[in-house]
Amino acid sequence: MNVMVIGGGGREHAIIRKIKESPKVTHIYALPGNGGMEKDCECVPIGAEDLPAIVEFAKTHPVDFAVVAPDDPLVMGLVDLLEAEGIPCFGPNKDAAIIEGSKAFSKQLMKAYGIPTAEYEIFTELEPALAYVEECRIPVVVKADGLAKGKGVIICETRDDAKEALHSMMEDKVFGESGSCVVIEEFLTGPEVSVLSFTDGNTLIPMISSMDHKRAYDGDQGPNTGGMGTVAPNPYYTEEVAQQCEEEIFLPTMIAMNREGRTFKGCLYFGLMITEDGPKVIEYNCRFGDPETQVVLPLLDSDLFEIMEHVSQGTLADAEVNFADDAACCVVMATKGYPGSYDKLCPMEIPEDVSNVYVAGAKVAEDGSLLSNGGRVLGVTERGKDIREAIDKAYESVHKIKFDNGFYRTDIGQRALQALKED
Ligand code: AMP
Ligand code: GLY
Repeated sequence: MNVMVIGGGGREHAIIRKIKESPKVTHIYALPGNGGMEKDCECVPIGAEDLPAIVEFAKTHPVDFAVVAPDDPLVMGLVDLLEAEGIPCFGPNKDAAIIEGSKAFSKQLMKAYGIPTAEYEIFTELEPALAYVEECRIPVVVKADGLAKGKGVIICETRDDAKEALHSMMEDKVFGESGSCVVIEEFLTGPEVSVLSFTDGNTLIPMISSMDHKRAYDGDQGPNTGGMGTVAPNPYYTEEVAQQCEEEIFLPTMIAMNREGRTFKGCLYFGLMITEDGPKVIEYNCRFGDPETQVVLPLLDSDLFEIMEHVSQGTLADAEVNFADDAACCVVMATKGYPGSYDKLCPMEIPEDVSNVYVAGAKVAEDGSLLSNGGRVLGVTERGKDIREAIDKAYESVHKIKFDNGFYRTDIGQRALQALKED
């Protein structure tokens, strides 16, 4: 089978490496992929948001199956377009991808179906939103309704911060039309857990849990990023919490989407906070998380491509989905300056014995060497028998990599280790 994977980051590299293991997969196209993946697939320079060009490529090449990984093309309806051309896909259609595409939609869904989440109000006009934050409890969270490249959530410690956030989203339109509607939400506290799941609308199978590290610097300091590292499993996701999540959150969400006529097929991501009142949904994503995928998929002992086929055919109940009892750790190496501005095309050297590096943004120079080409550049991932071993092995690999203009957090997984000690 020839498989087309849409996207070009570390998550897509992890997906490609995993489906490449399947005996059914003979060739993989990545659109656009990046230079660091070229050993694993054929990169085609078509952007993930150039829907007409992607469809044209799929029609004129022997593409048997498509995996649409990033949020933008899913929310724009790429799966609908490809399926209309007879190409089976892994990923939700446009109607279902709205679960991530509109925070107002997802909050209303949770309210209507009694799925635990933070209290909220929705505003489409600035004045009533400003009046609301004059009175509400502080801190408060202001969220742009639509996609905002992961930047549309602002935690406001003061009323002035909240007003500034509202002005920038609703008036200055810093996130474009995504900010014409905002959700103002109660601030919750507690450890965060990411749970990715496979679902075809009939069956939902949670994958191994993971923990992201969103802040740029050690000790959870500095600006928010797309994610500076992950570990799996997440020790806060105990068996008891897992059972509660399945009963109160995962299955009710699948059923709610069916009832709304928006059956979700693909990877449904639950961003959870384990509060004193139990687990609550912080966000849904309609796709694999990045960099969660980089620790979850290396622990999957089953054939990912077969699972994806089952999801697309609505036969997930027949799929074999097993995760190893091990742990994994991914340390992201980013370019200095990220998530602000950063230099591009900085030289890197990855020695041969560091094999499990997922490349998020790189280019191959004319002499064959690797140059950085993005903010987050590498996801250095290792498996171990437990989290401690996975962390040690991941950092051992990080230390072997030469990337002078790079930086990374030195404390990925420490909070998880702490939680295990407290247990
Ligand atoms: P997102 O961009 O949707 O992934 O949200 C970014 C981060 O904001 C989440 O991972 C949480 O750490 C935080 N966050 C979002 N909503 C809330 C909330 N209601 N209470 C506390 N923190 C939140
Ligand atoms: N790591 C968070 C996300 O993928 O949205």
